[in-house]
Amino acid sequence: MIMNEKLLAAEKSIEFIRNGMTVGLGTGSTVYFLVSKLAELIKQGLNLKCVSTSKQTTKLAKGLGIEITDINLVDKIHLTIDGADEVDPNLNGIKGGGGALLFEKVTAAASEKVIWIIDSSKYVKLLGKFPLPVEVIPFGSNHLFKRFFEAGYNPAVRKIGKENYLTDSGNEIIDLQINKIQDSVKLENEIKLIPGVVEVGLFNNIADTVIIGRENSTEILNRI
Ligand code: A5P
Repeated sequence: MIMNEKLLAAEKSIEFIRNGMTVGLGTGSTVYFLVSKLAELIKQGLNLKCVSTSKQTTKLAKGLGIEITDINLVDKIHLTIDGADEVDPNLNGIKGGGGALLFEKVTAAASEKVIWIIDSSKYVKLLGKFPLPVEVIPFGSNHLFKRFFEAGYNPAVRKIGKENYLTDSGNEIIDLQINKIQDSVKLENEIKLIPGVVEVGLFNNIADTVIIGRENSTEILNRI
């Protein structure tokens, strides 16, 4: 059911794409459906310039025949479509479950419009049940871990097997289990100011539109 909701949201987002646009492609299993559909449309003649938010998406897109342009070589990004891990009624969210938060945030910040595509389980009253990813440089990261532990944020270093997970930029991720984030803007600012933190997976005031896949339909929420 969740997969079908992801598919529905991804298909709906395609209605926002116009011929000639430069489009930012997010990362994750929902974006997988978007990229697959776009590959078909491009083969049928849709003209798009695409930039990617991760090695994973670049590999997927190229494998399906979509050319990826370096983000530094485009003048503007008209629209970025991405997934999210949790979204609240203010359209703030947690992202980075797939580890791509840094490039996702940079791409979103450079985009004229940002759409998130999610299944209905991700729409929540309060952010925080999903572990909040914090991307940190490896140098001194044990001290950041200690600091998050002492703050009561229940940190966990993201691992692949026994090794620390590394992002596309070679950084580590510390996931924080905060459960209830009362003020996501305050928390984002607090964490971002800590030396060694590269990015935090709180995406406040970034999404313009959220498309929620529901059982057999979609719901569209717009930032007011
Ligand atoms: C990638 O790092 C994340 O920000 C994804 O956008 C997010 O985890 C959504 O992924 P799914 O679409 O796979 O749920």
